[in-house]
Amino acid sequence: MANNKEEITTILERDGYLDQEIPKGTNLVEEIKRMKKEKNAVILGHYYIEAELQDISDFVGDSLALAQEAERTSADLIVFVGVHFMAETAKIINPSKKVILPDLKAGCSLAESAPIDKFREFKAQYPDHKVISYINCTADLKTETDIVCTSSNAVKIVNSFPDDAKLIFGPDKNLGNYINSLTGRSMVLWDGACMVHEEFSVEKIVDLMDQHPDAEMIAHPECEKPVLILAKHIGSTSSLLSYVQTSSAKKFIVATESGILHQMKKACPDKIFIPAPANDSTCACNDCSYMKLNSMRKLYLCMKNELPEITLSPEVIEKARKPIERMLKIS
Ligand code: 13P
Ligand code: SF4
Repeated sequence: MANNKEEITTILERDGYLDQEIPKGTNLVEEIKRMKKEKNAVILGHYYIEAELQDISDFVGDSLALAQEAERTSADLIVFVGVHFMAETAKIINPSKKVILPDLKAGCSLAESAPIDKFREFKAQYPDHKVISYINCTADLKTETDIVCTSSNAVKIVNSFPDDAKLIFGPDKNLGNYINSLTGRSMVLWDGACMVHEEFSVEKIVDLMDQHPDAEMIAHPECEKPVLILAKHIGSTSSLLSYVQTSSAKKFIVATESGILHQMKKACPDKIFIPAPANDSTCACNDCSYMKLNSMRKLYLCMKNELPEITLSPEVIEKARKPIERMLKIS
């Protein structure tokens, strides 16, 4: 059986699964709902996917909530509409269940920034350190990890270690730096970053704040320090979403992937949400191109064929499971 993303994608392309014709007049929404019942499937979607995909998901959440939901689901088939590391996490938690992802190419720049061989070399330089890995990493990297964290629980996870513990944090240096500043630690950081959150322009955000003095600027901790310094509130996607609901402000400049605006507008129809501008104004830089690989068409085909499926070796599942379970216990 093919085990890696590239091999599986090649097979699917060769066998024509990815460009199958969908009969004209097919009501994708109705068909997806029908298959959901028929196959006892659950659709788990991240806040960064397209609005119509969020609306058809059974559960929409941040990385932590999605992992928790994957842990408690009684569905036979888990359809993960997000990116590869999230679907892998669901598989690791549920080894006996089938986990499918509409497009296996939906990766993550953070996960890709930490290839396992390079990470092992890095880790070997600090033999007396424990490893805390941000959930945005491959299953292989999780096997080299003592405990996983997400942006929702990173402070709690880091503080679960004694004050003088020697710690490695990876792969996101921006989140690592932010957690170091909050906890007063000096964790050794892997030099990785998210291509979306690194693109926000401080100058343009400052201009926007000048134009909208009544707006509050909020940011995800994957942003670089100069952006975080400007923020009134810093947090995971779910934290940003709850903040806009409780704040008395009526306008927000939002420095994270633009998909979250859908839930913000739904929760607060009377408030105004302005996506933070990126350095390059010609690109849709605050869209995660990986998350946006998911589409209704691919979701339909993936549920129909129950492909592409996430497969991992039993050894990787066994080893990667422990640091995820430790995190879920503490959360
Ligand atoms: P959250 O855990 O805040 O949803 O973040 C996931 C992610 O990929 C951010 O880029
Ligand atoms: Fe990865 Fe960044 Fe996309 Fe989140 S927004 S999935 S960290 S590439």
